[in-house]
Amino acid sequence: TAPILVAIDGPAGSGKSSVSRAAATRLGFGILDTGAAYRALAWAALETGADLDAEPAVLELLGAWRFDITLRGEQRVTVVLPGASAPSDVTAAIREHAVSGQVSRVSQHPAVRDRLNDMFRAIVAGSGLPGVVIEGRDITTVVAPDAPVRILMTASPEVRAERRAGELSGVSREQVLADIIARDAKDTLVVDFMNPAPGVTLVDTSDLDFEQSIQAVIDVVQAAP
Ligand code: C5P
Repeated sequence: TAPILVAIDGPAGSGKSSVSRAAATRLGFGILDTGAAYRALAWAALETGADLDAEPAVLELLGAWRFDITLRGEQRVTVVLPGASAPSDVTAAIREHAVSGQVSRVSQHPAVRDRLNDMFRAIVAGSGLPGVVIEGRDITTVVAPDAPVRILMTASPEVRAERRAGELSGVSREQVLADIIARDAKDTLVVDFMNPAPGVTLVDTSDLDFEQSIQAVIDVVQAAP
């Protein structure tokens, strides 16, 4: 049987990634971080010298790379570059500014999004898990609009910058806020993840701590039919 899907969207720093992961663990579900795939694709494009702004070049890379991500336990992301025989572990590299600052260039291409979305659906279907929390920007609207649980997680820009700055060392709060605003501005041109689509539950974590945010997600899951 197909896994139960919990779809969670939201902007950077909303708590989406860490809260989704913790909620998935409590539910006994896997977690698919779709942003990690966009990041890995940007990393691979930078590594191979592909033009990130050229949709055909990114599509060619998508046809020739291999991507793998763990759905349980500690997250591990690996990529086999075209022509390479061994996988590269990119778990840490995809979080670096070099990738964060460029990722919106690969995620802007509609055909690239379609291909990745097919890949996400295949990963979930083949997971063999009872349920999967899948998080990103367009999961509630495009990837899994029929999911029984759909959540949009938000927080004020100030709170989001604070949380991100806490995760990254050696970067000022102002720089983080500027980066988040710039990335959200580019990303919202492509997908609207600031306003909940009909039927999507809004969870605002501005005034919630980590534990309360996890509980808010669990409450939505338990209220689902
Ligand atoms: O979630 P995270 O911040 O790691 O996502 C990295 C980038 O991947 C986003 O800034 C966005 O450009 C892209 N993305 C997307 N659609 C998703 C998930 C991520 O366009 N479902």
